[in-house]
Amino acid sequence: MKYKITLATMCFLYFFLGYWDFSFSQTTPEIKMEQKEIEDYLKKAQVCPGKQRVGRRTEAWLLCLTDGKVERRGFFRVTNRTRPHPIPDSYKYDLAAYELNKFLDLNIVPPTVEREVEGRKGSLALLIEKAITEEARRNNNIEPPDSERFKDSLEELTVFENLTYSNSYCAERDLPDILIIRKENWKIWRVDFSEAFDPYPELIPECHITRCSKKLYQNLLKLDDEIIKTKLSLYLNDAEISALLERKKIIIEKIKKLIAEKGEEAVLFS
Ligand SMILES: Nc1ncnc2c1ncn2[C@@H]1O[C@H](COP(=O)(O)OP(=O)(O)O)[C@@H](O)[C@H]1O
Ligand SMILES: [Mg+2]
Repeated sequence: MKYKITLATMCFLYFFLGYWDFSFSQTTPEIKMEQKEIEDYLKKAQVCPGKQRVGRRTEAWLLCLTDGKVERRGFFRVTNRTRPHPIPDSYKYDLAAYELNKFLDLNIVPPTVEREVEGRKGSLALLIEKAITEEARRNNNIEPPDSERFKDSLEELTVFENLTYSNSYCAERDLPDILIIRKENWKIWRVDFSEAFDPYPELIPECHITRCSKKLYQNLLKLDDEIIKTKLSLYLNDAEISALLERKKIIIEKIKKLIAEKGEEAVLFS
């Protein structure tokens, strides 16, 4: 009997928690609600004893969290060297990237909040469980079942890399920052923006935009500069914000030009 209960509990945990690992693929109203719930959870959850140091460059910790009912894990980064520091690297850039991803309904950056743990402020992100990294995928020659769809996700990522001026993907510099959930249609997550938002009013030279989802393009067109200025001034300085606005403009111009040259069908996908 004891064995049966244990097995039933294990099955429940596997199916319930296994599917509760935040692996949705586009922002629906339900997902927005879930995002908000996760943000609240991250803000309020207790930190269980025992933390594990992670991150090669930055000071970051893997935390176990609980609200008394559900246990989750979080990635807590405390390094905070904002520009004009000569070697910028800050948890604030993670928060800016998450907000920007929300403005665009992109759902590519895991929920991230600002939080104090043991007297230190940092960004606390939901840990994406059961993912493989793009680096591991390439090293092990794992091919996606739907290569066109996977390519489309990477095209969206390319637009976001340019917008945030963060070059993990195109420069193949930090492929472990790209996480893939295979069991959920190869949903992509992008983590680690701690060195992003360089104040360059240009696109990343080796990060070529060739296509974009219709939804992301429309959301870029809709995204008001004043919203970016107001909301992101918590995390970014004036130079970083004006370069970001300029890059948004250049990305829109670039996509418009591609559409004029190749036609909408060839450039925008659903
Ligand atoms: N929220 C997260 N969920 C899952 N894995 C993460 C998360 N944040 C970071 N990681 C993993 O940890 C690795 C190291 O963290 P990162 O922030 O990139 O630090 P560093 O670049 O200093 O090593 C990432 O490349 C990624 O594979
Ligand atoms: Mg990294």
